[in-house]
Amino acid sequence: MKAASMNVHPSLAIGQPIEKLDAISPATAPDVMVRFEGIAKTYPAYRGKPGVHALQNIDFAIPRGSITGVIGRSGAGKSSLVRLINGLERPTTGRVVVDGRDISALSGRELRLAQRSIGMIFQHFNLLSSRTAAANIALPLEIAGWAKADIRARVAELLTLVGIADKHDRYPSELSGGQKQRVGIARALATRPSVLLSDEATSALDPQTTRAILDLLANINRELGVTIVLITHEMSVVRQLAKDVVVLDAGHVVESGHVADIFTHPKHPITQSFLAEAIGDSLPVSLASRIVSVPLAGGQAVIRVQVRGAGAGDTLVARLARELGLDVSLLSARIDEIGGQHVGSLTLGIPLGTSGGEDATTRTLAWLSQYQFPAERLGYVA
Ligand SMILES: Nc1ncnc2c1ncn2[C@@H]1O[C@H](COP(=O)(O)OP(=O)(O)OP(=O)(O)O)[C@@H](O)[C@H]1O
Ligand SMILES: [Mg+2]
Repeated sequence: MKAASMNVHPSLAIGQPIEKLDAISPATAPDVMVRFEGIAKTYPAYRGKPGVHALQNIDFAIPRGSITGVIGRSGAGKSSLVRLINGLERPTTGRVVVDGRDISALSGRELRLAQRSIGMIFQHFNLLSSRTAAANIALPLEIAGWAKADIRARVAELLTLVGIADKHDRYPSELSGGQKQRVGIARALATRPSVLLSDEATSALDPQTTRAILDLLANINRELGVTIVLITHEMSVVRQLAKDVVVLDAGHVVESGHVADIFTHPKHPITQSFLAEAIGDSLPVSLASRIVSVPLAGGQAVIRVQVRGAGAGDTLVARLARELGLDVSLLSARIDEIGGQHVGSLTLGIPLGTSGGEDATTRTLAWLSQYQFPAERLGYVA
């Protein structure tokens, strides 16, 4: 089944003010899957511990059929935000509308029914160790009152969907981390939810397994049209999977929009620091190990620049040479696909003066800034 609804109206991009959304589709906003309206979440004071303002002034919409990343440091409020979506927590103020329904107003049986259309996967998988893979996946179907034969058929289908049909009778202790998360995903999808919430679901996995799980989530989004909300503190996860991103810091949304826009022009310091970490990771070891923090006479300053579009890197180096008359060298280059666009990170060597002067570097940074290329000085090489 292909989801036609995945082509969201371009103006429904995440981060649009709500008034604007209403102007486009007044009553039901069919292209919005989750909408936070004036949300604050305060955990009350408890046993002498002060109350915590976990979330404040949260207003944004998650497009139907999208994969939206929510990134932030520990304690930023990410888990609080997802728990509001499936009604595990109630907002202190405001409302959370999921698939047209105010989830924060539901309770009891109504809430449990609504929760069947919202699946969730976790960092530590949360499987029952006394149940086989198949029996873990069957659990939500048993609770929903499915007939035995239907459960058996559905579980087989789900095991195949997540690529572990051969693990039907295995217990969690007999499965690898990646396989356990596949069971978690199958269980979350059992009742055919329209939203899948992922709270750090790959944080306990190695990079290769992470990639495989993220690929599976991308397939699920594409094939089943399930809207995915991806909570993470890892930029690489957002970068690999999400088209839209919301950056949370200390309970506030500090930046939101298309991944490619946010990561090529990060405005908030927290976004910039996520980007800087990712860039640090991607430098070739041979170069990274040579970078020092003081200028060396006759050496080079090392500058990292972000560019967009295939071929943009070559053009940039040529323009720098031509317009500033500098002998710029390209120390390393890397092209990533971020949010469906090609984004390049170039590491440039800018000549230092014979006594280590940084005139050329200063001119280069000013020029890059004038043309709005995000750039930073990483240090110096001999
Ligand atoms: N049940 C709770 N009672 C009291 N305070 C809480 C509760 N849950 C979260 N908090 C507090 O709310 C703030 C946000 O926590 P939250 O778990 O949402 O952050 P997070 O971004 O998911 O962090 P992490 O990356 O460490 O999982 C923190 O200060 C946290 O201590
Ligand atoms: Mg958390």
